Amino acid sequence: MIGGGLHVYITLVALLLSRAYVHALAVPADLETREAGSKYCTTSGSASICFAEFSSSPSNPTFRLAVPDKSAAPFDTLLQIIAPVSLGWAGFAWGGGMIGDPLTLGWPNGNKVTVSSRWATDRTVPAAYRGATYTTLSSSKNATHWSLEVVCSGCSSWSGGKLSTTDINTFAWAVSKNAVSQPASNASSFSIHTNVGMFTVDPGVAKVSQSSFDQYVAAQKAAPKLA
Ligand code: HEM
Ligand SMILES: *[C@@H]1O[C@H](CO)[C@@H](O)[C@H](O)[C@H]1NC(C)=O
Ligand SMILES: *[C@@H]1O[C@H](CO)[C@@H](O)[C@H](O)[C@H]1NC(C)=O
Repeated sequence: MIGGGLHVYITLVALLLSRAYVHALAVPADLETREAGSKYCTTSGSASICFAEFSSSPSNPTFRLAVPDKSAAPFDTLLQIIAPVSLGWAGFAWGGGMIGDPLTLGWPNGNKVTVSSRWATDRTVPAAYRGATYTTLSSSKNATHWSLEVVCSGCSSWSGGKLSTTDINTFAWAVSKNAVSQPASNASSFSIHTNVGMFTVDPGVAKVSQSSFDQYVAAQKAAPKLA
């Protein structure tokens, strides 16, 4: 038999090494990486498109992503964020973590949504990121949700990483229940997330033909809608 002290020691080491322990104490439940399960298809004018869709629960946003069928980054990307009105901001991390990748943030401002381009080098308010630029296709807020649809140039490739067109990509998200300090400004400060999570997307699910991508973007620019 193992002596008491050694047994406690072994148990402690086993506990420290176990994923369950790490998840229970250090990582919020939503950080357990999940797979974007479904495809969401929609139309705009005569254009149709499908997005990879992910939502961990109705109290967190739905994220939808579409990318053109290129053989390698860089390419423009389409992102939708549909957030419950209870959320003051929501962010999407293109490289799967807070630090060292393009962050796309949205927050409600009246009946519209402000988009903000950020980059974090540490675990404080992320700074403005000029490597990514956005075209807002639609943004709105109603009694239950606020929603944002953007084309991003610069979100598929960055210093230190890029999206894969063949392998699974991991993304991360963060949200806060607290409103940002200056909703009309994309340079606003805001407070730390109240929830974060990660999910993976198979490029096969998010890919659309370049012509579908372009036709959908053109149709949304002409008559924006977010279904
Ligand atoms: C006021 C701004 C922010 C502060 C002070 C902050 C701080 C932190 C801290 C202390 C952690 C580690 C502990 C924890 O999990 O809670 C963390 C993790 C995380 N943050 Fe932030 N954060 C901020 C904004 C953001 C934004 C805008 C995003 C995404 C758009 C984001 C995404 C994440 C993610 C995904 C994690 C967990 C995975 C990882 O470590 O990369 N954070 N943040
Ligand atoms: C805010 O918007 C301006 C004008 O589009 C842009 O030049 C700037 O980079 C944006 N800043 C952030 C933090 O998104
Ligand atoms: C409010 O907006 C959400 C997200 O765009 C949409 O799904 C929902 O149908 C809208 N509700 C109403 C009453 O229009």
